Amino acid sequence: MSGVVVVKWGGGLITDKERLCSANSAIISSLAKVASQTSKKLVIVHGAGSFGHLKAKAGRLSEGEIEGLDQQSIIAEVREDMLLLNTQIMESLAMNGVDAEVFPPRDWAKGFGADFSGELPHHSGVTVVFGDVVDDSVQGFGILSGDDIVARYAIETPGVERLVFAIDGVDGILRVPPNEATPEDLIEVWAPDTEFEGVHSSNIDVTGGIRLKADRSALVASHGIEVLMVNGEHPKRVLDAIEGRPVRGTRFPPSNS
Ligand code: IPE
Repeated sequence: MSGVVVVKWGGGLITDKERLCSANSAIISSLAKVASQTSKKLVIVHGAGSFGHLKAKAGRLSEGEIEGLDQQSIIAEVREDMLLLNTQIMESLAMNGVDAEVFPPRDWAKGFGADFSGELPHHSGVTVVFGDVVDDSVQGFGILSGDDIVARYAIETPGVERLVFAIDGVDGILRVPPNEATPEDLIEVWAPDTEFEGVHSSNIDVTGGIRLKADRSALVASHGIEVLMVNGEHPKRVLDAIEGRPVRGTRFPPSNS
């Protein structure tokens, strides 16, 4: 039987990050097509982009309950918006003949960060999950990032071959900010002492940006699972990464330290 590959579809890739609730249908359908082309058993975790970060930022949802702020209506809105984005994704997968089932984290996860609790759900076909607003026993609620969810699936699912991040607009992790980078600035193989100048738009992004991805990737690699970060605007790269073929991107070699 073919192995399991965990894939993160970055929110910035599948939406227009600055325009509220605007999905990038062309990218979603190209990624759904890739999902239909592989024989690997996929776990797809998608991000939020403009369906999550903008309102979550305005409602300070990652900080939990704040006195005097009506956050409940914003939580409900963000959860609803995430379902809207997910519905487009499920439709696109179905149109490509992919048997997929979604498990919204609000229904099964508690807490946020790498050690959130809850049993990871699995479907016999493609399992779909997304970054979400979840309950938290300390601060009431919080934002569980898809980057934390993929790390846990990659580490805990039996038979995982690798974790692939399909990211937005860049070929992988760059040594310098993207607007200053040349093709040579791509970090092709990550080493534990690798340094880079990640830019994080904390004005719109309520989770951790590229830095969180690098941290979680290093964690997964330390459990002996390879991680690849590729430019999601190139569907062939995403497919090659899933299949384990050589591909342009950043590779975190597996180690068992
Ligand atoms: C964020 O999830 C979830 C919400 C803001 C509701 P992610 O951290 O996985 O999203 P992206 O990939 O950065 O958009």
